[in-house]
Amino acid sequence: MGDDSYKTETKKVEYSRGLEGVIIGESTKCFIDGEKGYLAYSGISIEELAEKSSYEEVCYLLLHDRLPSRAELKEFSEELKAYREIPDDVYREIRGSVRYGVHPMAVLRLAVDRLSIFDEEAEIFNPSANYRKALKLISKLNTITAVIGRAIKGLEPVRPRQDLNMAANWLWMFKGELPSKEMEKIFDIILILHAEHEINASTFSARVVISSLTDIYSAVVAAIGSLKGPLHGGANEDVIRLLEEIESGVGNGVSVEDIIISKINKKEKIPGFGHRVYKNYDPRAAILKKIAEKIAEKDENIKRRLEIGKRIEKVMIEKLAQKRIYPNVDFYSGIVMSYLGIEPRMFTVIFATGRIVGWCAHILEQLKDNRIFRPRIIYTGGEKTYISIDNR
Ligand SMILES: CC(C)(COP(=O)(O)OP(=O)(O)OC[C@H]1O[C@@H](n2cnc3c(N)ncnc32)[C@H](O)[C@@H]1OP(=O)(O)O)[C@@H](O)C(=O)NCCC(=O)NCCS
Repeated sequence: MGDDSYKTETKKVEYSRGLEGVIIGESTKCFIDGEKGYLAYSGISIEELAEKSSYEEVCYLLLHDRLPSRAELKEFSEELKAYREIPDDVYREIRGSVRYGVHPMAVLRLAVDRLSIFDEEAEIFNPSANYRKALKLISKLNTITAVIGRAIKGLEPVRPRQDLNMAANWLWMFKGELPSKEMEKIFDIILILHAEHEINASTFSARVVISSLTDIYSAVVAAIGSLKGPLHGGANEDVIRLLEEIESGVGNGVSVEDIIISKINKKEKIPGFGHRVYKNYDPRAAILKKIAEKIAEKDENIKRRLEIGKRIEKVMIEKLAQKRIYPNVDFYSGIVMSYLGIEPRMFTVIFATGRIVGWCAHILEQLKDNRIFRPRIIYTGGEKTYISIDNR
């Protein structure tokens, strides 16, 4: 180079570590007001959707940016149902890859990749084929995750039913028995709360991958890989580990507060707390906490864990008030999921079961007005002279 161009080239644009505060495009899918702790999907608040809607309706809303009529919702739900079955080869892939220590999210990543091989439209890129692939992914991922849930316990798969909605059908496939109306409603809300969340790491990954105009499956596989991490979807599993650690510590005469304060002092991150965007209570955490409070009235285990959870929350907010750290979606979701009989290693997989629609909605939106993502990075390696190998 012989000049300082490598030093000046990348200084032309502003650098934001972790892309904090960087706008990467426009979207009609989701709005978050982090200061107020407000979240809406396609303009409708999460509180209203959790109370009044269904996961299928939320899927329609996110894909079409409007609520469906009764007839449209029926047709849409029927189309999703028609895609529920997965190829035998995918069942075999799941059972073959479930080994001790293999994370269920890794199995999910493999299974979705495998699924792509069986979609004859995988490499057809017109808008209607892409939309169909999105519906197939939403529907089949629901089946795949239930199969994973059974396979990790060494159980045979239970095939999907056509007479159930997505939430009930998932619980049916996972447990092999029909869920109560209460369980079905709680699971439906869990799916709704996880369906979409603006440009988080996994959704951004999906958008980056699809921006090269590759296939939708590749983008979803990337998103699954991103969600798996403990700073993103993996945090819900860590929350239960924390609760277990506290339960055993408290038995030895240490208080919840002592444990958390000692972790804060050691600069450990407490899972289920903090958020890049929310500087207030995550509204999804508030909804899940209310559900946990309701079920705690009849379940002693949930009651005990919820009490610990609330004490953690109190000490975190008191100690980290200046950093504006509050519970995020992952903090109370594990407690609620355990009430449904879902074990911690499945929590992130459940997150993906809901989030698949958000990923697909963003992928389709990206394709409507695509420009490949190609940012820069600041080169800090210095200039070097090439020295022949004999002289090094
Ligand atoms: C979500 C998360 C990754 C956001 O990361 P981020 O925007 O890069 O925020 P930072 O990690 O820079 O945190 C800012 C400050 O708050 C502190 N902080 C953030 N989350 C914290 C947590 N969960 N526990 C304790 N301190 C936390 C950081 O230590 C940092 O303090 P410092 O300024 O003294 O160094 C982060 O809050 C986190 O790791 N949370 C735990 C994992 C989790 O629950 N993830 C699920 C997200 S939905």
